[in-house]
Amino acid sequence: MFGLFRKKETFAPLAVDMHCHLLPNVDDGSSNPEETVHCLKAMSTLGYKKVFLTPHFQYRYPNKEDDIKKRFEVLKKAIAQSGETGLPEIVNIAGEYRFDPDFARIPGVDNVLTLPGKRLLCEFSLHNNNYTPLDIFAQYVKLGYKLILAHPERYPYLNVHSSEIIKMRELGVAFQVNILSLNNFYGESAMRKGFEYIEKGMSEYLGTDTHNMRYIQALMETAENKEVQKVLKNHKFKNAELA
Ligand SMILES: [Fe+2]
Repeated sequence: MFGLFRKKETFAPLAVDMHCHLLPNVDDGSSNPEETVHCLKAMSTLGYKKVFLTPHFQYRYPNKEDDIKKRFEVLKKAIAQSGETGLPEIVNIAGEYRFDPDFARIPGVDNVLTLPGKRLLCEFSLHNNNYTPLDIFAQYVKLGYKLILAHPERYPYLNVHSSEIIKMRELGVAFQVNILSLNNFYGESAMRKGFEYIEKGMSEYLGTDTHNMRYIQALMETAENKEVQKVLKNHKFKNAELA
């Protein structure tokens, strides 16, 4: 485990992670504050200065904003009490909202947990072929939200040329490729498409989507990937503008 914490700072150019599941016990992410602290400590060695926590809001994890906010306060106290120093600053809590027809969230509810600038991190079903919720995207855009689609490369039925992707871009939806996709964490198709979105200037953000130490271990390996290092050197991302 000690080896995990040697300095690498590969992701220092990003500075901010805007997608992770490190609020404990609310989704398939971190299980307790200790695990969260451990993950944050590793993220610090990779160069992250600030993070936003983005728990799932979807039918499997029907979280409520007020409860999430309370749990965030509890976590902050637990981290302070842990005595760990040098962790990335947790800027705020936001959400990763899933736009599926079976998750009856009404666009426009006031307490939606957004990233700064009314930016809303969202996703939809990875497996529900032929359903891209463009209507829901359009409703949120109309209400003034700036949407960021998480991991576009992971949708097996979509690619950079898909009409749905083109329509999303026309609506002004920004994209966030998962860094781990670039190191084959989700398979070759996601890896190829991840690089393609970046090369075409269609990934304004890169996120870790960290859930637990398994992801951190993968992130450490990804930090050594020369192609990933090249991407960070040759492309500008907007992560740092979020905080
Ligand atoms: Fe996520």
